[in-house]
Amino acid sequence: MKTRRENRDELSFGYFFPTGQTDHIWSEEAAQATPPLNKRVFIDMARAAEAAGFDSLFIADTWSGHQRAAERGGHQSPKYHAPMLAMGLFAVTEHIGIISTFHTTHHKPAHIARMGATLDAFSEGRWGWNVVTGFGDPEARLFGEDMLVEHDERYAMAGEFVEIVKRLWTEEEPIDVDGKYYRVRGRIKAPRPMQKPHPLLVSAGASPAGMRFAAEHCDMLVVAGNSVEKVRETEQRVGPITEAVGRVDPLGVSPFAIVIVREHEGEAEEEYERLCQSLNYEATVELTADILGDIKSIEELFDGMTREEAARAWGSGRGILKFLGTADQVAEQLVEMKRTTATTNILVNFPLWNPREVLDFRGVLDRLHDAGVWSPPEDRDHSW
Ligand SMILES: Cc1cc2nc3c(=O)[nH]c(=O)nc-3n(C[C@H](O)[C@H](O)[C@H](O)COP(=O)(O)O)c2cc1C
Repeated sequence: MKTRRENRDELSFGYFFPTGQTDHIWSEEAAQATPPLNKRVFIDMARAAEAAGFDSLFIADTWSGHQRAAERGGHQSPKYHAPMLAMGLFAVTEHIGIISTFHTTHHKPAHIARMGATLDAFSEGRWGWNVVTGFGDPEARLFGEDMLVEHDERYAMAGEFVEIVKRLWTEEEPIDVDGKYYRVRGRIKAPRPMQKPHPLLVSAGASPAGMRFAAEHCDMLVVAGNSVEKVRETEQRVGPITEAVGRVDPLGVSPFAIVIVREHEGEAEEEYERLCQSLNYEATVELTADILGDIKSIEELFDGMTREEAARAWGSGRGILKFLGTADQVAEQLVEMKRTTATTNILVNFPLWNPREVLDFRGVLDRLHDAGVWSPPEDRDHSW
């Protein structure tokens, strides 16, 4: 069973798992280099991440398939339903944690309580939940609503939702909740989750309401931002929020980063620029329109840009932290990040999805081990 990490002086790494032929950068070259996603590819990638020393896989998820150009090009498509994919991957891995996305909006607490308990019990305590409230009216329409619930209210609903799920997981006697948004009476069937007090809860909320939600209800906050300074700024915003909600233990902060490691100096940067040259602009506009239409915090990243400029910037990963270089250079950048921020985990996105890319990251981890900021998962009993 995975326990929470005690040593906050070290880093752990999550692998942002393939959900489409590409998921940043939306490049035609990257899409074509990725084999069609099927059972074999998923198994190879999950095992490669486990062998390389990643602590977790992170599986994103959204519901609506209205982005047709993106689907044709394989950008964020196909997206296997995260909790079901997680179940398959638990069956073929031994220790790695799997954080799967599931929406609070559109669902009911008992669904997630049962699903999460099953995933965590089956995996013997390796499951984490990326709690999202969703974005975009097309998603809401799939569930019979005309439009998505307003942004901050979605987080209020999510707060009530998560607290009910935690009670269904942990309380022995039937619960009786008559909340503002949900009514739940009774208790769920066994199994209950193996992790105590509950499975790892992750959120990527970045707005004030989103951060407050993470501080009140979650264990880890994934942050987007395109520089170490932005990550530091986010941490500075998180501090007062965790204090205001009376949180005692620190909220783990996990930056989301694009990583390319190559043997010789300059090669990784060249590769990044080359991938950006075959950006699928039509797909990028579709995918960015969803985000810029509704995710306030990401919109702020591109303040002052036209929509087209913002789409190009977001589509080529310019809204995200990047670590490019040789293994020595990337390790140095990560050590510097650790020295200047409170980061405890990094969520790594390799723009090219193949096992080689994942396995080669071990060279970086070995250097981090020498620098005293990383230890192999097995040496710390596979904590998160
Ligand atoms: C790395 C990362 C992964 C995310 N994964 C998902 C996802 O799978 N599904 C989803 O609906 N939203 C996802 N989001 C969006 C967040 O849940 C959140 O809505 C967004 O960061 C904006 O924050 P806000 O909701 O507080 O405005 C992700 C965000 C980041 C940075």
